[in-house]
Amino acid sequence: MSKTRKLYVKSFGCQMNVYDSHRMADAMAREGYVETDRPDEADVLVLNTCHIRETAAEKVYSELGRLRRLKEKAAGDGKRMLVAVTGCVAQAEGTEIVRRAPVVDLVIGPQSIHRLPELVARAQQGETVIDTEFPVEDKFEHLAPPSRVATRARGVTAFVTVQEGCDKFCTFCVVPYTRGVEVSRPVEKIVAEVALLAEAGVREVTLIGQNVNAYHGLKPDGTSSSLAGLLERLAELEGIARLRYTTSHPRDMREDLIAAHRDLPKLMPNLHLPVQSGSDRVLEAMNRRHGRDEYLSIIERVRVVRPDIAISSDFIVGFPGETEEDFSATLDLVERVGFAQAYTFKYSPRPGTPAATMSQVPDAVKAERLLRLQALIDAHQRKFNAAYLGDTLDVLFEKPGRIAGLLVGRSPYVQPVQVTAPADLIGTIAPVRIVEVGPSLSAELISPVRPHVLRPAVLAAAGGA
Ligand code: SAH
Ligand code: SF4
Ligand code: F3S
Repeated sequence: MSKTRKLYVKSFGCQMNVYDSHRMADAMAREGYVETDRPDEADVLVLNTCHIRETAAEKVYSELGRLRRLKEKAAGDGKRMLVAVTGCVAQAEGTEIVRRAPVVDLVIGPQSIHRLPELVARAQQGETVIDTEFPVEDKFEHLAPPSRVATRARGVTAFVTVQEGCDKFCTFCVVPYTRGVEVSRPVEKIVAEVALLAEAGVREVTLIGQNVNAYHGLKPDGTSSSLAGLLERLAELEGIARLRYTTSHPRDMREDLIAAHRDLPKLMPNLHLPVQSGSDRVLEAMNRRHGRDEYLSIIERVRVVRPDIAISSDFIVGFPGETEEDFSATLDLVERVGFAQAYTFKYSPRPGTPAATMSQVPDAVKAERLLRLQALIDAHQRKFNAAYLGDTLDVLFEKPGRIAGLLVGRSPYVQPVQVTAPADLIGTIAPVRIVEVGPSLSAELISPVRPHVLRPAVLAAAGGA
């Protein structure tokens, strides 16, 4: 009897990589590979990489150093391990990766990951495989659909890619080069996938795309659907209780999407809308194609229909040419919006992008601005969370907490919430009272517990459905 072959996949970077990693595992499962979280016992190791900042790309090389030692040890024991680099570093660096890290057997760009099983078979014959072609066909058509077993093991929330790629070419960003042009998946493919996830116990789906609100997938009648239309269609699926989407671009924030935040109860009240900078001059140099007033006006319009919405964002400090005055404009924008949460990054020059050749801001200045911006954002986040002390919020319970008896879930506003609650509430939504606020919230169940949404397993146990 042949021994089970094992696959180890490590994801770096954005949620799209997490999604792609799951699909690669599903495709390999068809070939008999079982996933493991132990690299030392794997036959095939996949690093699904991110190229967005230099630190992200360098992480991959230090990880490859570790894998080299594992591979050598395995070879000493007479076992052949294959190492694959997939994702955005693979796309951006291609054969350069094998030159720098000869431990690598396969280099596969994000558009070719559906070919993983066949490429692994070629590498097993001793070939070094490089596949960084942009697709001649649609990769999603060829990705294994999520299997029931795999999705059930992965919990009650899931990401689903609905749109990939970007045509915006912000001057700092590698994504248009690593993920290619914007492509939207057809509506019914997404509906089928989400229905399968719902059947497997998923209750909350986050639709993902580099510019998710530019979504324009085909409907069965041959016309195209906006993101708002897609959300409306998915809200019809009974098992799905919550819908979110990320990441949006201010340029594509259409009125029907804003209206969906008023009209669709399943659409959760959060919006991740990266602004990068509060200075018009910097926004222009970044080629963001909108100004600060336009951004503020979007926030205003969203808050008219959903005053409680949690707004989050991404910021880059120290973009080439950013002056203290530009940076003050960013701090001022943060004050005006009052973000519930935000990611902040020091500008990192990326080879091949226009901003890399512009005149750079010294690292010490970037570091100092980053600290100031983070402090301000942290203060806003604490304020946002503190406002919920004593309130009742609906929590979707996701998994056991670190301490026995605790469950972790999320509020509608994406805040992590810790609650002392029985494990069988996982996968259900129940109201809790917030008793402690910090970076995350602590809460207690409101008894008697009447979860709004029952899992199929719970219904079956109760003799229903
Ligand atoms: N599509 C999204 C963002 C994708 S990348 C958008 O348009 O906003 C995620 C975040 O990484 C970006 O929002 C930006 O804040 C940051 N980022 C991208 N390139 C960067 C770079 N060269 N240096 C520092 N941060 C960067
Ligand atoms: Fe990058 Fe800009 Fe496209 Fe976002 S919109 S992925 S930041 S190029
Ligand atoms: Fe990174 Fe590629 Fe995502 S560069 S952020 S993994 S699209």
